[in-house]
Amino acid sequence: MRLEDKVIIVTGSTTGIGKAIAKRCVREGAKVVLTGLEENLGKEVLAEIGDANAVFHAEDISADGCADRLVSLAKKSFGKLDAIVNNAAWVVSSDIQTTDKYLLQKVIDVNTIAPFLLIQAGLEELQKSRGCVLNIGSVNAYSGEPNLLGYSISKGGLMTMTRNLGDALMRDYGVRVNQINPGWVLTERERERKKLHGLSETWYEKLPAMYAPSGRILWPEEIAAAAVYWLSDESGPISGQVVDLEQHPMIGRNAPKDTSTIN
Ligand SMILES: NC(=O)c1ccc[n+]([C@@H]2O[C@H](COP(=O)([O-])OP(=O)(O)OC[C@H]3O[C@@H](n4cnc5c(N)ncnc54)[C@H](O)[C@@H]3O)[C@@H](O)[C@H]2O)c1
Repeated sequence: MRLEDKVIIVTGSTTGIGKAIAKRCVREGAKVVLTGLEENLGKEVLAEIGDANAVFHAEDISADGCADRLVSLAKKSFGKLDAIVNNAAWVVSSDIQTTDKYLLQKVIDVNTIAPFLLIQAGLEELQKSRGCVLNIGSVNAYSGEPNLLGYSISKGGLMTMTRNLGDALMRDYGVRVNQINPGWVLTERERERKKLHGLSETWYEKLPAMYAPSGRILWPEEIAAAAVYWLSDESGPISGQVVDLEQHPMIGRNAPKDTSTIN
């Protein structure tokens, strides 16, 4: 097993990509601290995984002291901390007209500052275990969709943080920091979110090749499979890296033949 006996905090693990990462980590031999906003969903994930290998803590990740409580829970439950997966995010739709100061502050609090504070709170333990951090970004970090303005800004900040800390923490503490930027992933929430944005009931079954060259978008389990590499000792001393997980390049793409829009 590739993560034998590792203790990993996975934020935002009540649904979607975080849930898939937590379940995969346990299948690879790890113990996980599950956390997220939805108490009921978290308990369901915990029941699926079993409480020998997981604990669950429901809290807003941007609340004062949350980072310390998560690190303490890992230590109290499993005696150490080997890795942090900063996956929780507020995936909020906003553009130049609707991004007010409150929204921008909140999205940066949840998506950028909370991951930073969790790394800071866990650093002593991560140094002891020569552990690592995996930040879950987004391909929106490079520029982003017009209607994901606040979210894209928050993910841009996260990507810079990964590169900065991936250098400094590796050198000074022996702690690796890397990031994966998922492309478009079909989670239970994304299915609903896009309907709210006006797409049809079965939008994910007929996507134009421009967005989904393979005919479908990614599955959470495919992101979880990649996460294992970055969390395991297989990635050796590699640090400060950001890897895009999309089905086409984000930079320098050929002009698409199919310019139809999604409906
Ligand atoms: N789904 C996609 O297409 C996609 C694409 C690129 C990147 N991502 C990134 O992947 C990660 C997971 O995305 P997802 O689609 O699975 O999200 P999701 O909306 O399904 O789940 C979000 C998780 O984060 C938690 N969360 C949200 N706000 C929180 C807060 N304030 N405090 C504590 N927990 C909070 C939720 O409880 C939930 O567990 C995010 O970082 C997201 O930006 C997703």
